[in-house]
Amino acid sequence: MIFKQNKIEDRGYKKKIKTITAILIFLIVIVTICMLAIFVIKMKPEIEINQLILSSDSDKIELEDIKQLNLWKKTLSKIKEDNKIIKINYDNYSIILNNENLKKENNIETSLRTEIQYDEWENTNVVEFDVSKIENINYIDQIEIENEKIFQGIEIIDIYGINKNTNQSEFIATKHLEEGNIIIVPNEEYKKYILVYIPITEISIEENPINLFQNESLKLKFKVKPDNATSKIVNIEYDETMLEITEDGSIIGLKEGESEIKLQAENNKVNKTIKVNTKVKTEGIEVASEKIELVEGESKNADAKILPETVSEKTLNYKSINEEIAKVDENGTIIAIKEGETTVVITSKAEPIQTREIFVTVRNKEDVQNSNLIANNNSIQKNYVRGVLIVNKNYSLPSNYNPGTNQEALQAFNDMKTAASKSGISLWIVSGFRSYQTQTSIYNRNVGLYGEETANTFSAKPGQSEHQTGLAFDINSTKWSFAETKEAQWLSEHCHEYGFIIRYPQGKQDITGYVYEPWHIRYVGKDLASKIKESGLCLEEYLGIN
Ligand code: DAL
Ligand code: ZN
Repeated sequence: MIFKQNKIEDRGYKKKIKTITAILIFLIVIVTICMLAIFVIKMKPEIEINQLILSSDSDKIELEDIKQLNLWKKTLSKIKEDNKIIKINYDNYSIILNNENLKKENNIETSLRTEIQYDEWENTNVVEFDVSKIENINYIDQIEIENEKIFQGIEIIDIYGINKNTNQSEFIATKHLEEGNIIIVPNEEYKKYILVYIPITEISIEENPINLFQNESLKLKFKVKPDNATSKIVNIEYDETMLEITEDGSIIGLKEGESEIKLQAENNKVNKTIKVNTKVKTEGIEVASEKIELVEGESKNADAKILPETVSEKTLNYKSINEEIAKVDENGTIIAIKEGETTVVITSKAEPIQTREIFVTVRNKEDVQNSNLIANNNSIQKNYVRGVLIVNKNYSLPSNYNPGTNQEALQAFNDMKTAASKSGISLWIVSGFRSYQTQTSIYNRNVGLYGEETANTFSAKPGQSEHQTGLAFDINSTKWSFAETKEAQWLSEHCHEYGFIIRYPQGKQDITGYVYEPWHIRYVGKDLASKIKESGLCLEEYLGIN
């Protein structure tokens, strides 16, 4: 019984062990299944690329914002067959995988996510694109950045790469944003890409103001800073009526005057204004004569002017190289000082500076007077009749015959005056030498007072007065009452003794052309005067002329 009981007890124990074992095995199986399930779940790719391939009809498989890309052999082979492009879109950029490289692989597992960092760098738009976070850059064909979302209002940027090894930035390209999205083809050398717009911070001008001659051109020279400015383009504004600026940057002055050129940096407010003064270019100095001859004490203006007449700065400077010979004042009047030669140098204030010389000869005053006398005598040869200088209505003198008082005649008068005074007769000259110009005034006044016909009976026309010879004198008074004086009486009786004749005697008006003038005496020398007196004839009758 005991055995039985034991057996029964044994059988119960064994059954328990079996049950526990079965439960344990069951649990182990369950745990194993769970672990396998967990493992399978864990190994499953995040992207169900297979499904997307199936649902995509286009050449591109577009995926949204993923961090990790796992492509299994099966998926890859499908992509390879279809030759599709895998494009992964993030917020404002996309990554396009390189199919060629994908084809070489069986399984691909890579981290793709990168970030765009914006930076404010003194008015500069900087975008940093860090590709170092991409595990296997070989799989990336290109990174496409959407301009519009990043660079608003900017037309141009520079792309730099930060070298992995040197940490230095290297210029890659300049990109005009209106041409489309920015494409970066990653290069293993770079860990980062920097997309930057570096504005012009300064425009510097070499020459301000610019002085230009009309119709001449000058290269417009300016520099922009910094040297690595993204766009060095500067817009130029100017008055087209005043200036022309050619495509190669040459400025041409069209019109005389002041004008401005405004340089404005493209894309920002930096600007500079250049003043331009356009002037008419001088061509030379015109002078009335290159040689001027003056007599000591005389002066004459150089009559110089700047050419062309459109030059507005007309100032000329004058200098005599020998001021002892002749001086020149600021108005160009040359004043002859003493005999000799000098040069007056004229320079323009307007540019290009012009120079002109005038050769000045100063002649000795006495020499000139003597030679003038000779010249005068030559010009009045026709007035000499039998050696006597005749001046009347038929024998005129030229206007430049200007000998002054004849010294021999004056001496004769003085002798006569001395002799007369011994007899209590007082003689003096009321009118002696008269120039052509003086006679013109006297005659015109007489015509005005008495009418031409009457004036012609007692007043000579210019050039016809004996007073212009310097040999005739009016004595004491030219009033008719003089005829009644003892002085007139004495003159009539004695003047021939001193070489004088009464030139317009009474009763000879028809021949002399003038009424009786008891005061007008004419020096002819003692011999002739005595003969004429003795003859009782007037000078014209005596010489047989009219
Ligand atoms: N009384 C004279 C004519 C003259 O005028 O010269
Ligand atoms: Zn007279």
